[in-house]
Amino acid sequence: MKEATTEILFPKAVIERRVEELATQISLDYAGKELLVVGVLNGAFVFMADLIRALDVPCTVDFVRMASFGAGSVSSGEVSIRKDLETPVAGRDLLVVEDIVDTGLTLSRLVEILRERCPASLKVCAFLDKWERRRVPFVADYVGFSIPDAFVVGYGLDYNEQFRFLPDVRVLKDIV
Ligand code: PRP
Repeated sequence: MKEATTEILFPKAVIERRVEELATQISLDYAGKELLVVGVLNGAFVFMADLIRALDVPCTVDFVRMASFGAGSVSSGEVSIRKDLETPVAGRDLLVVEDIVDTGLTLSRLVEILRERCPASLKVCAFLDKWERRRVPFVADYVGFSIPDAFVVGYGLDYNEQFRFLPDVRVLKDIV
């Protein structure tokens, strides 16, 4: 791995407090129900693991992986499912969990696909929201932190698959 300069944006303790707050709100909103929590691989796995353990409502979990197409770093906007859920969602209360909303292309397409399967309800919880970068209108129901347009890593988020293991969120600088 190349040397990289990083600067802490959200330390571990701040993340822990925010995840507790989100879980409290979600538990209130879904009191008496059982959630199907859908994680979007790979980035969501750390946040999702912490979030579900802080919930006061029962849940089951499943995962999807999405694929987007385009040349280089410019996405065409075409998004499809690369790894599908293994759980039928009809009649279930779905909570999609994501590490970050950027252009909004991934989540808007995923929500569209999942709605066609007739869940009882569907909401989205995103750990980070980089709202300045939206290419399609998308608003998550629960957001951990809104962030500026910086390259962030850690707590599941990667740069070339590196840094996902970091316990805090850091801004990556000097990317060459
Ligand atoms: C990232 C992130 C979201 C998506 C958000 O996934 O985890 O799924 O991009 O971007 P968008 O709002 O512009 O669609 P990535 O494809 O980097 O895969 P990863 O989760 O494995 O890191």
